[in-house]
Amino acid sequence: MMVFHSIRTKLTLWYTALLGATLLGFGATAYLLTRSILLNNLDRSLRNEVAWVNEFIEPKARKVRLKRAALLELQELKRAATALSPVDSLDVATVETDQIWNQIYQHTLLSPRRQFIQILDRNGDLLYRSPSLEDETISFSYIPYRTINIVTIRDEQNRELRLASTQNDYVKIVVAYPLEDLNEALGDIFSNFGYMAPLALLVSIIGGWFLAHKSLKPVDTLTTTARAITAQNLSQRLPRQKADDELGRLTETINNMIARLQESFAQIQQFSADASHELRTPLTIMRGEVEVALRNKRLPKATRELLTSLHDELIRISSIVESLMTLVKSESGRLAFRFDNVELHRMVGEILEDAQILAGSKGIRVAAEQIVPVTLRGDAVRLRQLFLNLVENAVKYTPNEGAISISLHHENGNAVFLVSDTGIGIPKKEHKKIFDRFYRVRQDDLPDAGGSGLGLAIAHWIAQAHHGTIEVKSQPRKGSTFTVTLPLS
Ligand SMILES: Nc1ncnc2c1ncn2[C@@H]1O[C@H](COP(=O)(O)OP(=O)(O)OP(=O)(O)O)[C@@H](O)[C@H]1O
Ligand SMILES: [Mg+2]
Repeated sequence: MMVFHSIRTKLTLWYTALLGATLLGFGATAYLLTRSILLNNLDRSLRNEVAWVNEFIEPKARKVRLKRAALLELQELKRAATALSPVDSLDVATVETDQIWNQIYQHTLLSPRRQFIQILDRNGDLLYRSPSLEDETISFSYIPYRTINIVTIRDEQNRELRLASTQNDYVKIVVAYPLEDLNEALGDIFSNFGYMAPLALLVSIIGGWFLAHKSLKPVDTLTTTARAITAQNLSQRLPRQKADDELGRLTETINNMIARLQESFAQIQQFSADASHELRTPLTIMRGEVEVALRNKRLPKATRELLTSLHDELIRISSIVESLMTLVKSESGRLAFRFDNVELHRMVGEILEDAQILAGSKGIRVAAEQIVPVTLRGDAVRLRQLFLNLVENAVKYTPNEGAISISLHHENGNAVFLVSDTGIGIPKKEHKKIFDRFYRVRQDDLPDAGGSGLGLAIAHWIAQAHHGTIEVKSQPRKGSTFTVTLPLS
């Protein structure tokens, strides 16, 4: 598909891919960084918490034997949370230990995090656990002595917990925090990223496409203009770019190249023009001299035959030189056309008579199939040359006793001139080339009809100058039909 062969598409895809990769990299880095910062913060507060509990409980534990109040503590502390009423129903030791738990509970209430605190005695029996734990026990074996250890574990409900622990001579302290909360916070921060990234990509596709389109537009213009430059209009140049950038330099380079081509073409044309011009005069003189010599009645037969043959060849060479001159002049635009109203039907009538004379000696029948009155603006001399070239070819390339038909009619606002013959025909692969200069079809099994290969090149040029076309349909050994189409207006 065309789209995939354009730099525009490739650039846009590159932009988008790069931006996509950047967004992804940026997103991932930001995510990981934020997570690590949050985790660090969490660790710090867990560490503080463990340290606080440790420092709070140790001096007290030295005085009172800590009792397992775990079963009571829940109801008691909940009551304490609502009424903040002192616990008064138990014995002194219980009251004292409960006050310790109560203070720890009060402390956790102040903490902004939903953390779990669990305190065990040295035997591993539960002394206290925060209400947030409900009846879950965090089981964790390695608790370091007098230093704080922080790890991530999974609890009974398979929740991820960040856990800090320590122990002193009296208790083991564990403070934990569910990572689920941290992940949720991260999710909140990054959920919008999921919507923003595709949006940014979309903007980049549209923007990239637009930018690429804008910067490559001059390339399209260059391509179109360069395509329109042919040998006939080498004086044309590509439009100069305003900026002295890559495109500006490319344009400059191409223009220089065209200029050099134009120069070479002009030299070749000049050479051909000079050569044919220089040949013309001596040829005319030679022809005149041979004609004078032939007037001598007393010439020996052999000499006369020699001079006659020489005369024929001279005529042939003159006609080649003449044709060459015409083509060279036509290319350099030095040959002016004289446009007038031309009655084509009259002209074709005369051509028909010429054809009959030409074909007479070969016993070829020439018939007019249809000639309708057509008048158009054109150069009568050139049009006559065009038709005559085709008719001459038809006669030349049709064996004795063949047939030629000529017709002229209108079709879709065009005058259409047709010449058909029952001649040797032209192989399909040669159809395009026969309009090239000096091109002649070689058919080994047929005698050479003689000719320079310029007739159809001239015919083609004349048709073009009248904004018309010339086409061939032909089958070897069956015959050929040449069609000239000339617009009427
Ligand atoms: N009617 C035709 N039938 C078969 N071949 C043809 C016909 N017209 C042209 N050709 C082929 O096309 C070639 C080119 O024709 P063109 O008229 O340009 O040159 P030419 O007839 O060989 O020479 P010139 O017309 O310059 O004297 C011919 O050499 C011939 O091989
Ligand atoms: Mg010819």
